[in-house]
Amino acid sequence: MHNPYLPYPVRIESVVTESEDRNQKTFRFVFVNPEDEARFKYMPGQFAELSIPGLGEIPIGIASSPTEKGFIMFTVNKVGKVSTHLHNMQAGDIMGVRGPLGNSYPWEILEGKNVVIISGGFAFTTLRSSIVYMLDPANRGKFGKIDVVYGARMPGLLLYRDELATWEQRDDINMHITVDGTSDPNWKYNVGFVPAVTKQKAPSAENAYALICGPPIMIKFTLPVLTELGFAPDRIISSLEMRMKCGIGICGRCNIGTEYVCKDGPVFTLEQLAQLPSEY
Ligand SMILES: Cc1cc2nc3c(=O)[nH]c(=O)nc-3n(C[C@H](O)[C@H](O)[C@H](O)COP(=O)(O)OP(=O)(O)OC[C@H]3O[C@@H](n4cnc5c(N)ncnc54)[C@H](O)[C@@H]3O)c2cc1C
Ligand code: FES
Repeated sequence: MHNPYLPYPVRIESVVTESEDRNQKTFRFVFVNPEDEARFKYMPGQFAELSIPGLGEIPIGIASSPTEKGFIMFTVNKVGKVSTHLHNMQAGDIMGVRGPLGNSYPWEILEGKNVVIISGGFAFTTLRSSIVYMLDPANRGKFGKIDVVYGARMPGLLLYRDELATWEQRDDINMHITVDGTSDPNWKYNVGFVPAVTKQKAPSAENAYALICGPPIMIKFTLPVLTELGFAPDRIISSLEMRMKCGIGICGRCNIGTEYVCKDGPVFTLEQLAQLPSEY
């Protein structure tokens, strides 16, 4: 049996600087041992611990989709010790990935439903995974309408800009890209905060689930909009980012009440979160 504390060795295949402020980079990893890729079975919403020998591990949402074969992908915001070290690494370097960890979005429940995705800033990572997963030709027929409201402070801070432009062209996904403000005369999408754009586009709550990830302030002001649109608390799904260590429900670092965010989450419905002490 694979030791859950032991990272799989991976080689950095490519590094893409996502944002104009250079604080977010996307890393594509290839497993050094092909049999490890077969073991690393994941679904959108899960995360992994990125492991730098001698320095530490950080929990990061998996940004690739299981429908994308041959690599796994993570987008990392540079904030501290491990993420800064990672930002200084290059294609060809070897490091570790431990996982996949945590639960995923509830894909069996989402099948046959309309899906509304709402996100802001660099929390879009596991939702990028979800979009790629649902748009895969083998999966697109399993889901109804897909609406996406995704915003950033300015155009240069949006992640995955080439993919956003491609999805904009498709008629089987409704993209509502927005920025808080811009002086770019060629900007052709929305201008406005995510809650306001959600209210304006008013995606229907009928037979729908909303997946929402982003800065707490964005979530705070978007939840009343979703409620007004008719989304019940058990149909609003979010992902929590707590400080973690083991990632497998043993060390007790990440618990909220009786729930371990690393094992029982990080994905929870609003209904589930309402039952927990407000420590997050
Ligand atoms: C399930 C999950 C998924 C995540 N997905 C992503 C992702 O896709 N991309 C991404 O960039 N980040 C993600 N994070 C956050 C990421 O884990 C932290 O930014 C990272 O651990 C920071 O490590 P560091 O060593 O660089 O910083 P440190 O040196 O440990 O800390 C630097 C600063 O960041 C703060 N910090 C550290 N960890 C966290 C945390 N978990 N939450 C909030 N603040 C923190 C510290 O308080 C300190 O101010 C996720 C976290 C969780 C739990
Ligand atoms: S991180 Fe150890 S129990 Fe969750």
